[in-house]
Formats: sequence, C-alpha cells, structure tokens
Amino acid sequence: MAVGSRLTHVIESQQFSRSTLEELFARSEEIKREPHRFMTRLNGQVMAALFYEPSTRTRLSFEAAMMRLGGWTMGTDNAREFSSTAKGETLEDTIRIVSGYADVIVLRHNEEGAARRAAAVSSVPIINAGDGPGQHPTQALLDLYTIKDELNRIDGIRIAMVGDLANGRTVRSLAYLLSKFKDIKIWFVAPPQVAMRDDLKAHLTEHKVPWVETEDLDAVLPEVDVVYQTRIQKERFTDQEAYQALKGVYRIDNRTLGLMRKYAIVMHPLPRVDEIAPEVDADPRAAYFRQAHNGLHIRMALLDRVLG
Ligand code: CP
Repeated sequence: MAVGSRLTHVIESQQFSRSTLEELFARSEEIKREPHRFMTRLNGQVMAALFYEPSTRTRLSFEAAMMRLGGWTMGTDNAREFSSTAKGETLEDTIRIVSGYADVIVLRHNEEGAARRAAAVSSVPIINAGDGPGQHPTQALLDLYTIKDELNRIDGIRIAMVGDLANGRTVRSLAYLLSKFKDIKIWFVAPPQVAMRDDLKAHLTEHKVPWVETEDLDAVLPEVDVVYQTRIQKERFTDQEAYQALKGVYRIDNRTLGLMRKYAIVMHPLPRVDEIAPEVDADPRAAYFRQAHNGLHIRMALLDRVLG
C-alpha cells in the first residue's frame, strides 16, 4: 500500500518497509524538535475519525496530531450508536459517504478486517485505528519508536509479550513490525485460552524470528529487554466466567520488577486495569506513559506522510 514516498491506506503492519519506518521515526523527531515548522503543513485538510469502539489515546492523539499540523477534524465516537449504523447502514456505505467529506478517515471498528473493507470502497486514505482483534498498526509504530527511543536500538531486542495475546491487536501489529529487524527473539507469555494465534507464529517462523510460548512469566523476566504487558480484554469474552478466571493472571509489581534487568523497560498499550500495579509507575523502567505520549508525534509524522 506504499506508493512512492506516500502511504495511501494504512491497514496492517506488514505494509511498512524498514526504510519507511526509519523515515517516519526521523520525521517524528524532527516534528518534536521543531513543531513550529509543521504548524501549517495540513492547512485546509480534514480528518474524519470514525470510532465504533471506545478510545482515549488513539482518538485524541490523532485529533491533536491533525490540529497541530493545521488541519481540521470531525467524527463520531460510539459510531455504532451515534452514526447511521444504528439505522442499519453498512460500513461500506458510511465510508463511501464520509470519503466525500474528508481527506483521510481514521477508523476504529469492532470487526477484524473492517479497515480493509473500508479501504476497498474509500476514495481517500483509510488509517486502521484498530479492527477488533486484528491489528492496530499505528500503535505498533509508536511502540516500535518507543523501543528505539528508550533502548537506542531495535535489532537484537529480546521482548516478552504478556497477557491476552489471542485478542491483542497491538501485540500482533508489533510482532509483524519486529519481524523486519535482525536478531529479534519473542516470548509469548499467556495462558492457553488466550495464546498467540497460529497465523502470527507462522509468519515469525517464515521470517526466521525465534519465538517461545510459555505460561511462566517469572522465568522470562530476567531474559528480556522489554516486557510488553497487555490487558485481558473483557469486551472480547462472550463467557464472563472465562474472563474472571483469567483476569489478573499476570501482574507487574515491585516483586516482578525485581526479576527484570536494570535497564529493561515495561511497556503497555494502555488502558491498564490491574495488570500493572500503580507502585510500578515510579520506577524509571515504567515506559508506558512515555510510550503513549510518543503517539502524538508518530501520528503527526504519519498524517504528514499520508496527506502532506
Ligand atoms: N492503546 C490504545 O489503542 O488506547 P485507546 O483504546 O485508548 O485508543
């Protein structure tokens, strides 16, 4: 989906080349350093944010990014209730209409594959802001940038992905991006009920990225540079008893911090519930708030690339 130096639709992590990632990160740093140079970049352009699932970070950082580049935003959150979806309109028809009003559409949807369906009928770029348990590629961009920013490298990283991996679109998108780098090793730490799906593991094997599956978080913590903790996603469970059985299965707290390397970092896409204790926030290795803040400049760089 990359056309020359521009990106058209942003649907999945696999579409990013390593050189495009490096250019986006460099542009993001330039924007952060000299924001005044970019204040009018997208003057007169309009971003529509269509959110069919709740969001704090993705929605507001995209809106802030567009406004800080001089553009305008419009949209609907809770689109299942507050857009004409509630009257029975299909996603495809909604996209056909909104693409006549906006220059770019940022779409979060509850169904895996929704962004691809939207891209098939849209006359403007679609940016996937999370499609059910599918992917969340712009989260992966800021996650990968955070790893580089915090540890000064991506090649050679050892990372534990922890928690609800079956439903975790952020871990899927990040793993796809990591497979473009050298000497990566991934530990998938999850109970069997929410283990990483086979398609992603097959992709890693095909790209010669070693991965290990385990339920033993304590054994993995001393081995890794990054602990990527995730929430057990209550909203993806049809059986609430099954959710209750898994809730709180892995918790990062002062005890588990003690098992980690001195320079290793704790990441989380957020929101967190109880899987990272508040006592961890004061530890310099807690990178999750810095990670969320990186979303602003990464999304500015992305919008600049898609629309600039
Ligand atoms: N990480 C993330 O996607 O957060 P929101 O659901 O708040 O957008």
